[in-house]
Amino acid sequence: MSRGFPRADDTQWVGRCRPTDPELEIAAVAVAARTDLAFQQCIAPACGATFSVDEVLTSCPACGNLLDVSYDWDRLPAPTSFEVFERKWMRRSDPLAFSGVWRFHDLLPFAPREAVVTIGEGQTLLSVSDGVGGFVGMKPGRLHLQYEGLNPSGSFKDNGMSAAFSHARMIGARRAACASTGNTSASLAVYCAVTRLMRGIIFIGSGKISYGKLSQALDYGALTIQIAGDFDDAMARVKEVAGKLGIYLVNSVNPFRLEGQKTIMFRVLESLGWEVPDWIVVPGGNLGNSSSFGKAFAELRHLGLIDRVPRLAVINAAGANTLYELYHNRGLRWEGGRADLAPACHYYDELDREQKRADTLASAIEINRPVNLNKCLRALEVCDGVVREVSEQEILDAKAQVGAGGLGCEPASAASVAGARKLVAEGVIGRDDRVVCILTGHQLKDPNATVAYHTTDQKLFNDVLGSRGVSRASFANRAVSVGNRFDEIAQAIELYG
Ligand code: F0G
Repeated sequence: MSRGFPRADDTQWVGRCRPTDPELEIAAVAVAARTDLAFQQCIAPACGATFSVDEVLTSCPACGNLLDVSYDWDRLPAPTSFEVFERKWMRRSDPLAFSGVWRFHDLLPFAPREAVVTIGEGQTLLSVSDGVGGFVGMKPGRLHLQYEGLNPSGSFKDNGMSAAFSHARMIGARRAACASTGNTSASLAVYCAVTRLMRGIIFIGSGKISYGKLSQALDYGALTIQIAGDFDDAMARVKEVAGKLGIYLVNSVNPFRLEGQKTIMFRVLESLGWEVPDWIVVPGGNLGNSSSFGKAFAELRHLGLIDRVPRLAVINAAGANTLYELYHNRGLRWEGGRADLAPACHYYDELDREQKRADTLASAIEINRPVNLNKCLRALEVCDGVVREVSEQEILDAKAQVGAGGLGCEPASAASVAGARKLVAEGVIGRDDRVVCILTGHQLKDPNATVAYHTTDQKLFNDVLGSRGVSRASFANRAVSVGNRFDEIAQAIELYG
């Protein structure tokens, strides 16, 4: 049987903080016999336990690691060329051919057609931006922005939500929950509201999400639970609550979520005429996107649809930089699944001891305990990846440049552009490389940061940005205040127009 991801068979894997339980190891061997066409599989090569797609799991019951959705490609009618996807567009009156996720159904074949839920996600845009490219230090025509803000809820989350929601429907769930920095909750809420298939319950850290996102969840009618704490607290709590109350969890620990997010890369390739770019640059929060991108490229290569993979750059905000600290500074690697990940556990203990909390204006990625850390390390290995951190100042300047280029984004998204700029300055990314930065969320998600950057009100600037170490707004477009008089207005237009 041929599986979608390269596997190592070494048994020294240590992917969790608890010591190995021998009884669980035996259980793993017992369940490893499942060989359906699509199945869930533990990512730890030493375990590799498999489970039916009918089961609702967010970690391996045998060893506690993350799960993949895997496929027996030898027995599936796997696509042999990309043309099959192009032809789908001719049939776009069919919602599954229209969806930017489900027109790639053959590459995520875990759900029967009748279970699939789509609300028209994935109609996104890849565009060349020479303005932003110049800021980043690239030659003309080389920097591309993949604008995921065009999704129905305004962020990339809808790609994954469509897939997780389809799985929830498959197994007959009536309630679905998530913890969120705002976008996952907006996405879950919109799928519940449009389809009426499930009740959405969202957990958010009190005061930790931007108004744009909170307003979406409230408007779409999700049960919104604000808990005293931040995202990391909400994440730990929702796992407990969902497990105990039998509520379907749609966070990216759910392996079906990441299947949908693979399609972001399929659309990038599609927009590039199926040519593989040199670099994909993506912000890192819970590390679901980066993980799914690595899986997408590993599978496409396995299927012979591409012959090389792009390099991957994952960009943390400096105030929430667990991946940067572990991967870049402490040298933590996947090593074919053989790595000792104990340094991650030690790092989390350090954070607890120092009572260090994630803290960044890029609230979407204000996360210190990324649930997909192990999978992201694997993706970084597949894609010969690098990790960088960027400051609040760098994020906001990059965001202003993205806005000036015409496709606004929220602060977290701009981390990708700020990171690309850093990597070009370091000479890691070449000025002539073909680079795709993922703009993960829409500009209107977080207007506070945008208005504070462009403001003439020094107090507002200081309160929102200065307090976080932002000292200047080099690319601000400041409003001009005038009296309500023709001559003053005309003079302002003459001066600045
Ligand atoms: N960009 C935006 C706009 C996000 O909302 C998120 C994550 C990320 C980047 C990071 O992506 O987790 O795949 O590394 N937002 C989550 C949420 C955590 O709850 O909406 P990641």
